[in-house]
Amino acid sequence: AGPRAENPSSRPVDVALQGLARLEYRGYDSAGVAVIDGDDVRVTKRAGKLANLREVLEGAADTSGQVSIAHTRWATHGGPTDVNAHPHLGGREGELAVVHNGIIENFASLRAELEQDGFSFTSETDSEAAAHLVAREMEQSGDLTEAMRRAAASLEGAFTLLAVHRGAPDTVVAARRNSPLVVGLGEGENFLGSDVAAFVDSTKEALEIGQDQVVTVTANSVAIIDFDGTEVTDAKRFTIEWDAVAAQKGGFDSFMAKEIHEQAGAVADTLRGRLEDGALRLDEMDIDPSVLRSIDKIVVVACGTAANAGAVAKYAIEHWCRIPTEVELAHEFRYRDPVVTEKTLVVAISQSGETMDTLMAVRHAREQGAKVIALCNTRGSTIPREADAALYLHVGPEIAVASTKAYLGQIAACYLLGLFLAQVRGNLYPDEIAALMADLEQIPDQIQQVLDSSAQVEQLARDMQDATSVLFLGRHVGYPTAMEGALKLKEIAYIHAEGFAAGELKHGPIALVEEGQPVFVIVPSPNGRHSLHSKVVSNIQEVRARGARTLVIAEEGDDAVLPFADEVIRVPATRTLFAALLTVIPLQIFSCELATAKGLDVDQPRNLAKSVTVE
Ligand code: G6P
Repeated sequence: AGPRAENPSSRPVDVALQGLARLEYRGYDSAGVAVIDGDDVRVTKRAGKLANLREVLEGAADTSGQVSIAHTRWATHGGPTDVNAHPHLGGREGELAVVHNGIIENFASLRAELEQDGFSFTSETDSEAAAHLVAREMEQSGDLTEAMRRAAASLEGAFTLLAVHRGAPDTVVAARRNSPLVVGLGEGENFLGSDVAAFVDSTKEALEIGQDQVVTVTANSVAIIDFDGTEVTDAKRFTIEWDAVAAQKGGFDSFMAKEIHEQAGAVADTLRGRLEDGALRLDEMDIDPSVLRSIDKIVVVACGTAANAGAVAKYAIEHWCRIPTEVELAHEFRYRDPVVTEKTLVVAISQSGETMDTLMAVRHAREQGAKVIALCNTRGSTIPREADAALYLHVGPEIAVASTKAYLGQIAACYLLGLFLAQVRGNLYPDEIAALMADLEQIPDQIQQVLDSSAQVEQLARDMQDATSVLFLGRHVGYPTAMEGALKLKEIAYIHAEGFAAGELKHGPIALVEEGQPVFVIVPSPNGRHSLHSKVVSNIQEVRARGARTLVIAEEGDDAVLPFADEVIRVPATRTLFAALLTVIPLQIFSCELATAKGLDVDQPRNLAKSVTVE
């Protein structure tokens, strides 16, 4: 939220609601907004999705103030109730309101101290302590920026904190540590948001706010200091490439359906402009090639869907570059004392660039002297800022909580990185790289072919609405695809699903198979390593012999699967490695259609948030 100009058509509360609608994917347990109205700080908040808040605010009176702050919550401290929703009032007379993202670790001691000082608490949240703390500092200094600076300096943990005060009715002040914050620069109006999606409808110009900084925003000014009070003059300004219309559903039932159908263009955008005179150029990834030549190990860190993309990267990078590559869930990596040296390259994959678990892994790796390359989609986000270099996905805003087009963009970016490493290190000849790139550039058209033939999978999904358990099997890059297929079904359809390496089946999971159990099998190309293909075909037979209903994803013309498949879903032929960009699409469509048929909220599944900025 942020100050507005004297624009009568944009009430502060409407600007805030519009921003919240864009950010709702970050959390949707509750939402609220605060405006200044004369001597009052007016807070309206409701548990549940944004629609509940919107209903209450419809027709609400306009205010004299020019600023608003707003919040959509993913609960950490305290359940998702009206009282625990943000903004929180602070001060002895409720003269200030804050919204907070993150976790304040020393809130219990702060609360005790503030209660002794006469401040009363109404919620169970850590955020309310921050509100009173800023209010108390304001009592003493009379300056909202200084109050925020002092308060922020005494908070521990992760926070983005925004405050408005009735004593400064044209100002929003904000502080950040370990949580995201960007400024949108408008004309006669300015914005603050957890990411640029919040204000992309209003302005494309943005400013990055660094770690431990305080920013003071009015309709016509933006001033930044650090927690020591020193003025910051080198904040990085950037232009947002995203199209605002890209953040609308455009005729689809859900953002997820829309984003699935955008994937041909998305992958084309990831690949665009990377090849010049037969050589791969990743200019935006600003890293010294000698660093890339010196590394002796790669560790990919990521969470959720991004980790499945990382698992694909391992197959590609080890094959092309002969560099030992590990893939690790970011939250496991940091706390197990991993072997990381100056010769380790850490690749952090994150659509949002804000996942706290991934960010902490990046910091840990850099502390050990490793170099970090971030593969991210969101400009101005924290992970690319803190990495040594970044390669962007360029797939446009992804709104649905369950990731689809960003997953494909992540895989495509991993291929680019792998081929670039092979080029720099001389593992592949230039003509080999050119041939691989030529095949990769065919993929967007092939994705479109898969999308154009989605009717079969959609029907299958509608027929399988009542399924209670679905298994997914694959080998090689089909294994991460199986994991991703299962994750999608869990996330949005709430159906028990598991992905397995098909070879592992006989070592345990096959005990789950009984009459009628649906099993998706991702079959590698029969033109690749023949043994891989025939082994998977054997695995289909093994589950079918035990009564499974086999749903087989196989290349066009692969007739070897026909005798053992209850249903065959075709994808165009490509290299075994690149198939990861095609075979997952029917699985995405399957989950999306099945969840839609069940009447579920596909874009905002229960308990999840798109960008998890707590550890
Ligand atoms: C959350 C989302 C997942 C996502 C994961 C990683 O858990 O619900 O859909 O895959 O975060 O997100 P990132 O932004 O780091 O790619």
